[in-house]
Amino acid sequence: MAIAGATGYAGQELVRLLARHPEVDLVAAMASSASTGRDLPALRHLWRGTIEPLDVARLTSGLDAVFLALPEDASAELAPTVAESGARVFDLSGAFRLAHDEARGRWYPKTGTLPDGVVYGAPERLNGGLETARIVSCPGCYPTAASLALAPLVRAGLVAGDIVIDAKSGVSGAGKKPTERTHFSECHGNLSAYGVFSHRHAAEIEQEVGCAVTFVPHLVPIDRGILETMYLRVTPGTTDERIAGVYEDAYARAPFVRVTGGELPTIKQVAHTNFCDIGWKLDAGTNRLVIVSAIDNLLKGAAGQAVQLFNLAFGFDERAGLWG
Ligand SMILES: NC(=O)c1ccc[n+]([C@@H]2O[C@H](COP(=O)([O-])OP(=O)(O)OC[C@H]3O[C@@H](n4cnc5c(N)ncnc54)[C@H](OP(=O)(O)O)[C@@H]3O)[C@@H](O)[C@H]2O)c1
Repeated sequence: MAIAGATGYAGQELVRLLARHPEVDLVAAMASSASTGRDLPALRHLWRGTIEPLDVARLTSGLDAVFLALPEDASAELAPTVAESGARVFDLSGAFRLAHDEARGRWYPKTGTLPDGVVYGAPERLNGGLETARIVSCPGCYPTAASLALAPLVRAGLVAGDIVIDAKSGVSGAGKKPTERTHFSECHGNLSAYGVFSHRHAAEIEQEVGCAVTFVPHLVPIDRGILETMYLRVTPGTTDERIAGVYEDAYARAPFVRVTGGELPTIKQVAHTNFCDIGWKLDAGTNRLVIVSAIDNLLKGAAGQAVQLFNLAFGFDERAGLWG
């Protein structure tokens, strides 16, 4: 098993999780080809290896599984080659997430045609295919929090009107390279909306939820975590008990979804875990529903979910390497 992109925010979480996974032998962890060999100070005593520059020959040398935590253009190019070598690829980028050609062409133009054997891997909504998938496309961070909260209600026919998603993310969601927007002195003490009607995660959320949404992401001055507040109308007569029942049916066997009812989740209660917590408040008189969903963007939104998918794909305990 190997990781490419191991020096990134998501990649370092992968190293941390996979180094102590009971079923994994992590043989290589790579940065970009421009990098020189080095260790990761935060992972000393947790992992004994050394970070290597990208080595495609090694990634295609008969490994069972390869995790890609790369920019999407690099994934779009590398994933099919690695998959052809026989390794099962777990791709954390958005390169293979969108099934419709038009949407993918707009948001992920490097990907072109989807290669054979791609499966979008939302662990809680899988409809078969993971066991034989060659490339498992791991869901995005904002889409994970949104679709876990919304998809069961939409499927149950409880949603009666427009859905507005007010989403907030910590700065690690943008990767390790600071930009003018994510630089410490810009985001410290600040709060800003961005990507209104132009964020590619809206397309992924709509694909997974099955209806249009108004999605407004915000950058908040914390290092990690996502909290999404969703506003919608439900069909007249919907009760708290009905909503609780729908979530109960959807997540009775989902070890990483915690339905908290009227106790609204916070980022601190999911940070550094692979949980998604979902709570809500219903105003039954006006059929207005507010749902709050929280995840750690680097775990349930990235590395943790990828390891969960790896466990499911290889027939291991879904919680292996993630519990506790
Ligand atoms: N951050 C999140 O919350 C999050 C959540 C879900 C999904 N994702 C997705 O996961 C992927 C990684 O995100 P991240 O935030 O961890 O990114 P990041 O912090 O910017 O790290 C990127 C990693 O990729 C390597 N890299 C950069 N360009 C490369 C290339 N052309 N070829 C090979 N390696 C290259 C970097 O190596 P160097 O150290 O040598 O530059 C680094 O290890 C992205 O596709 C992102 O969209 C991220």
